[in-house]
Amino acid sequence: MAETVRAERLGFDPTVPNDARIFDYYMGGKDNFAADRKAARHMLDVAPELPLMCREGRRLLSRVVRYLIGAGVRQFIDLGCGLPTMGNVHEVAQAAAPGSRVVYVDNDPVVVRHSQALLEQNDDTVVIEADLRDTRAVLGHPRVEALIDPDLPVAVLLHFTLILVPDDDEAARVVAEYRDAVAPGSYVAIAHSVCDPKPEASAKLAAIYRDTGVVDGPRRGQVRSKAEVESFFDGLRVVDPGIVYIPWWRPDPGESLPGPETVWSVGGVGRVER
Ligand SMILES: C[S@@+](CC[C@H](N)C(=O)[O-])C[C@H]1O[C@@H](n2cnc3c(N)ncnc32)[C@H](O)[C@@H]1O
Repeated sequence: MAETVRAERLGFDPTVPNDARIFDYYMGGKDNFAADRKAARHMLDVAPELPLMCREGRRLLSRVVRYLIGAGVRQFIDLGCGLPTMGNVHEVAQAAAPGSRVVYVDNDPVVVRHSQALLEQNDDTVVIEADLRDTRAVLGHPRVEALIDPDLPVAVLLHFTLILVPDDDEAARVVAEYRDAVAPGSYVAIAHSVCDPKPEASAKLAAIYRDTGVVDGPRRGQVRSKAEVESFFDGLRVVDPGIVYIPWWRPDPGESLPGPETVWSVGGVGRVER
């Protein structure tokens, strides 16, 4: 792991817009502040489809978790889990396979406190405050080591979080480190907004993220392309149907399938085989 990684603690500042709380606003939640709502409305002027994209993202997460349960996975690490909302990973996994173990990771103390308050009764779920980029700190955290059996497959979920790791090399390193640390038969699932269908809107959104301080660290001028996201799956066997616009990833019967111009995000699942 690069020596330069710093596990930064964000602290709590309601005057600086925060991604978890902006996401909460789009999902109709109450855990957001004036600065979050102002940035969110600014983004909605550019891309009114953002709330739909968020909901489609949660639907995808649900389908991915159910797929992984079907593939025999009983351990999940949800990196950048966000505030509790519809279809949380432990709810979906433990409904399908009771006893499934779930680790939630976020570097936002508000997310962590909320989630801990909700989950303190659940013996098979833990919430830790950590920087997902510090793979050693996450996987070596005492509560993670106590819950996750490193000899068994685990699903590493990077669901709309790599967009907040703006440096391409660092994002690729993070994925590779988790891939190489987990047992064979594990999976890495990634969902990520992409610029291809709406280059102008995505460039404007990236600028808002940069200018309002939502994105931490080195600044990035634009949202990644689909091809750039596909490169994060190097070294994994991508399962069917591949890396696709998210409504098209194993939709449930009867689900609506909005097109890429409305939901400009892709997702996929890769299996660790070595
Ligand atoms: C867009 S939300 C995604 C929430 C959830 N994964 C989903 O798809 O619904 C991104 C989350 O990642 C968290 N996050 C951003 N950078 C992070 C980092 N370096 N380490 C841990 N969490 C991070 C944010 O606090 C936020 O809760």
